[in-house]
Amino acid sequence: MNLTIPKKLAIIMDGNGRWAERRGLPRSYGHIKGTRVAKKIILDCAELGVETLALYAFSTENWNRPQQEVNLLMRILNRYLHRETENLVKKNIRFSVVGQLSKLPSDILRAIEHAIDRTSHCSGLHLIFGLSYGGRWEITEACRSIAEKIQSGELKVHQINEKLFEEHLMTPKDFSPDLVIRTSGEIRVSNFLLWQIAYSEFYFTPTLWPDFSKSDLLLAFENYRRRHRRFGLIDSAIVNHDQAASLKVL
Ligand code: FPP
Repeated sequence: MNLTIPKKLAIIMDGNGRWAERRGLPRSYGHIKGTRVAKKIILDCAELGVETLALYAFSTENWNRPQQEVNLLMRILNRYLHRETENLVKKNIRFSVVGQLSKLPSDILRAIEHAIDRTSHCSGLHLIFGLSYGGRWEITEACRSIAEKIQSGELKVHQINEKLFEEHLMTPKDFSPDLVIRTSGEIRVSNFLLWQIAYSEFYFTPTLWPDFSKSDLLLAFENYRRRHRRFGLIDSAIVNHDQAASLKVL
């Protein structure tokens, strides 16, 4: 199989609930199986040479699910962080999060801080969890922060441009995914990384997240290889993916 590995990858892990319901199981089983899959895919991405992987683990909208499901997702997350942090260190994976962290319970915040701290020296895959994350929230916060700086005189209105705006986002600088994968057959973005996906390629698969495997990931990468990324230019201007990825379109 001919592959092109996207340097920056984002995954919307969808379909845990349906996976469980189709088996007559409580939705929690889907989330538990989904977490095992996430663990494997993170390691696969690290081995394959993906540089940054963003996983949508919990959206701002997910707070509106039944309290029992929210509690379970929080417990799963806490357990993942406790069990996996040392493994991340071993695999040289740097962990970080993006999202409205103030809404998270304090035990999870502690586990997150610990994982960030323990993996801060790691130079392999950069793993980013979207937690209590929403693209609209992130953009709104960037606006608020710029407005405050203008109010205090630190910034002038004429200094606002796309580069400056991007610097006020919470995601790492230059994090514009080359490829976004969404599982479960839904063809939508659901408020993930709205600013950052302006020039991303999309891969939608009907596979439910708990069934997603390394071979599905490789299939997505194979499909990505066949895309022509033009970034608004003409075909002959783009030679390969690496050139395309290094283009800064502002
Ligand atoms: C979507 O399935 C998935 C989520 C809301 C949460 C994603 C979380 C995990 C995979 C587990 C946590 C991950 C880590 C890495 C700790 P859904 O419930 O929306 O499924 P449905 O659309 O079929 O109902």
